[in-house]
Amino acid sequence: MSRWCAWGWGAMVAVMWLGLTASAEQTTPRAAAAKLKNPVASNAASIATGQQLYQKYCRFCHGATGRGDSPSAPKDMKPSNLADATWDRGSTDGEIFVVIQEGAGPDYKMKGLKGKVSDQDTWHLVNYVRSLGGVAK
Ligand code: HEC
Repeated sequence: MSRWCAWGWGAMVAVMWLGLTASAEQTTPRAAAAKLKNPVASNAASIATGQQLYQKYCRFCHGATGRGDSPSAPKDMKPSNLADATWDRGSTDGEIFVVIQEGAGPDYKMKGLKGKVSDQDTWHLVNYVRSLGGVAK
């Protein structure tokens, strides 16, 4: 491999790394998140889809009933109780959507699912999380 070629690879890896680090943090300001409109009606079908996704992506940290008491959560973090009335990052549909997509700051132990879960599925997750009882309708 020529020297220039090695340079090219180095630069490419650096750019990719920067991209990954940037996408691991919340880029949507809270005020904008709060205004996002949920396009998916919260009905039984949506909540059931959200529940399935929750089992796959969230349960091992937040627990079977969303109370943040899962024994399999990594020891260095304390997953939030999603069934209580305390919402440090906001309880609107849009704010919950952004947390799921972009992760829970400020230290981002909970990573966002951007690129892994579609917007549509994320709204199903939002509908499910809100059905856990922590948010007054
Ligand atoms: C690796 C463990 C982990 C996974 C997986 C995880 N979370 Fe979290 N979540 C956390 C932690 C830890 C926090 C709290 C962050 C903090 O304050 O340090 C959190 C916070 C939240 C919050 C914010 C709660 C508040 O009070 O503002 C929501 C909403 C949330 N998670 C929903 C979800 C959903 C939905 C999923 C699945 C798509 C999920 N989480 C997956 C660890 C996780």
